[in-house]
Amino acid sequence: MQTNRLNLTIDAWKIVERDFDPARVLSSESLFALGNGVMGGRANFEEPYSGATLQGNYLGGVYYPDKTRVGWWKNGYPEYFAKVLNAAFWIGVEVQVDGEPLDLARVEVLDFYRELDMRRSVLTRRMRVRMRNGAEVAVEAVRFLPLSRREAGVVRYAVTPLNRAVEVSLTPFIDADVRNADANYDEKFWEPVLTEDDVTQSRTRKSGFEAAWAQSVTLDFGAEHLTTADFACETRPEQVRHRVTRRCEPEQTVTLTKYAGICSSLNHAPEELAAAARSVAAEARRAGFATLLREQEAAWAARWHGCDITIGGDAAAQQGIRFCIFMLLQTYTGVDTRLNIGPKGFTGEKYGGVTYWDTEAYCLPFYLATAGAAVARELLLYRYNQLDKAIENAAKLGFGGGAALYPMVTINGEECHNEWEITFEEIHRNGAIAYAIYNYIRYTGDEGYLAEAGLEVLLSIARFWAQRITWSEARQRYVMLGVTGPNEYENNVNNNWYTSYIACWSMRYAAQAAAWVREHRPEDYARICARRKFDEASETEQWQRIVEGMYLGEDRELGIFLQQDGYLDKEQRLASDLDPSERPLNQKWSWDRILRSCFIKQADVLQGLYFFGDDFDRETVCRNFDFYEPRTVHESSLSPCVHAILAARLGKMEKAYELYLRTSRLDLDDYNREVAEGCHVTSMAGTWLSVVEGFGGMRMSGGVLTFDPQLPAAWESLGFRVNFRGRVLTVRVTRERVEVENEGPGMELRLCGALRRLETDGRLIVEL
Ligand code: BGC
Repeated sequence: MQTNRLNLTIDAWKIVERDFDPARVLSSESLFALGNGVMGGRANFEEPYSGATLQGNYLGGVYYPDKTRVGWWKNGYPEYFAKVLNAAFWIGVEVQVDGEPLDLARVEVLDFYRELDMRRSVLTRRMRVRMRNGAEVAVEAVRFLPLSRREAGVVRYAVTPLNRAVEVSLTPFIDADVRNADANYDEKFWEPVLTEDDVTQSRTRKSGFEAAWAQSVTLDFGAEHLTTADFACETRPEQVRHRVTRRCEPEQTVTLTKYAGICSSLNHAPEELAAAARSVAAEARRAGFATLLREQEAAWAARWHGCDITIGGDAAAQQGIRFCIFMLLQTYTGVDTRLNIGPKGFTGEKYGGVTYWDTEAYCLPFYLATAGAAVARELLLYRYNQLDKAIENAAKLGFGGGAALYPMVTINGEECHNEWEITFEEIHRNGAIAYAIYNYIRYTGDEGYLAEAGLEVLLSIARFWAQRITWSEARQRYVMLGVTGPNEYENNVNNNWYTSYIACWSMRYAAQAAAWVREHRPEDYARICARRKFDEASETEQWQRIVEGMYLGEDRELGIFLQQDGYLDKEQRLASDLDPSERPLNQKWSWDRILRSCFIKQADVLQGLYFFGDDFDRETVCRNFDFYEPRTVHESSLSPCVHAILAARLGKMEKAYELYLRTSRLDLDDYNREVAEGCHVTSMAGTWLSVVEGFGGMRMSGGVLTFDPQLPAAWESLGFRVNFRGRVLTVRVTRERVEVENEGPGMELRLCGALRRLETDGRLIVEL
């Protein structure tokens, strides 16, 4: 059996661990995490564990404003960092065998098997342990978060004595007395509201969210079938507990099933929460474990239908890409515009579970192509709903006239990031938010979105750029001063090419959008002009003037765009000149040394060439790629994917594959030795992009959906599915041919270089 360096089995549909290693508990908690798009949690053991663990259960959208902690306070810093906080530990089951608690850190583990079945999102753990008192027992724990009932959770926990008759005591519990490991001031974020027999309710301090957790349990033991009322209730403040004890003969199994109801004030009035949680738990119990499992299998099969990727001849790559798709599907399903995609999803506390530019730059195309227009639209509306906050945010920094600066990090529209180089200067995020609207419309054809919401966002962003850009008398050009590009290893630079380019592009696109809405949706146009005090003629004239006069750095001799002023003054070294012991630079070098070096954290100029590929000829992209990629250290997980796509577009297949490998199993192989903190969920969208847009060669070009597939040498075949304007397209690529199958209405597409007609429910085959 093939395993990786974390001793995980390579399997097409499962993440499997076959031994227990306390040193790996934290990383496995991240990798085996479960989610249903609105809540999720790390793969903590159900029974209390006294070894190193990070408890994590998160309710999307429920956050705590943790007071900012910085060295030197700068005016304009936000007061807090919003954190999607660690919530009640609802999975708990205490186990005692002849009075001794089962704690994996304190027993002998004879056998251990854990699998996360990605096809249906079910976590199973089987183990045999020898207690200190000599009793040997087998345990099987199965857990899932039903996709069909988003407020429910299910655990089935079975104990079987093996070598002698024992007394097994099981206490299913919910513990709401939990904390965040990353609290800035060691505060507890929750305060208790009430605890009754089977339910506990808490409120977040300051932000005032409330949530209730209820359990309804059953016990099967021979012919006996018990329900909660038959258990001894040991509930106490913030702890729901029900205990039962049975004497079991060897091989006689006692099976506990816990149905949890988890409801928050996002969806219920606080005074109705306890009853709501109770009723979700009771309904789940009435449905029963088998029915819930069948529902889960069906719901996940439907999910996978529109987005699976198959890779022939490379089992590790197959598992890697499925894991990425699976985690993205578990994190966001587009059912609620208040939710978004935190960089770690529901797998850890890092990045606070809040929203970054990652959503627009990396995740949106994944959801567009796999979940469809409606889900992607929810992501755009999230920003639309936060537009007034973005205007307030810009106003705090001194911008007026309805200019919007979207936050670098947010959950409710307010900026949370507090490092001036990023908070105030990494303003390219505004460009990504504008670009996402364009990306959505060109893929879906839904131009009406401009009239409904898009134009307001675009014009407010354009207004920001128009004020943020400066006229330079010395250069007689417009310049952009004091910014941080995507490459965070340079701060406070002037004329970062990427930021300036996307700013100009945003202003041009906003002007086009205004003209479209004026022409096609006059009533919306009038509403928007009045609401946003928009004077199209004068404002677009100003944008046009700036775009025409903008300075965009170039080095004509090298034929490249200049990442920023002075980049070529730096000592020019390549990442390959670095000794491996110096990597990662952010851990080994002083910040001063990093800032002065030429090394690039992640795609910067190349991010622009990726977004705006159609604006540049192949040679230009190639020269820039050949110059910048070797200087890039890829110390953001978001970096290799963009490079892999560009390399594939340029036909540099070995390079594309090398970069793809760095992204595809980043977490499964724990490439950066940090998966214990959580998985890089947003970068998983980048991995998907590198397969579909890179090797699959999918892009929208001149309004036409295009596929130019190329297989890396290590793969025998590649198959992927995308949703496109009401149809599901299946693309299958081998060395001999490319095939596209259509479930839906006919369309024109460009396949392997030629424009072709794909009939309704038809199939196109191109022999290579
Ligand atoms: C990257 C940012 C990204 C953030 C969250 C940082 O390391 O440089 O581009 O938004 O991580 O994923």
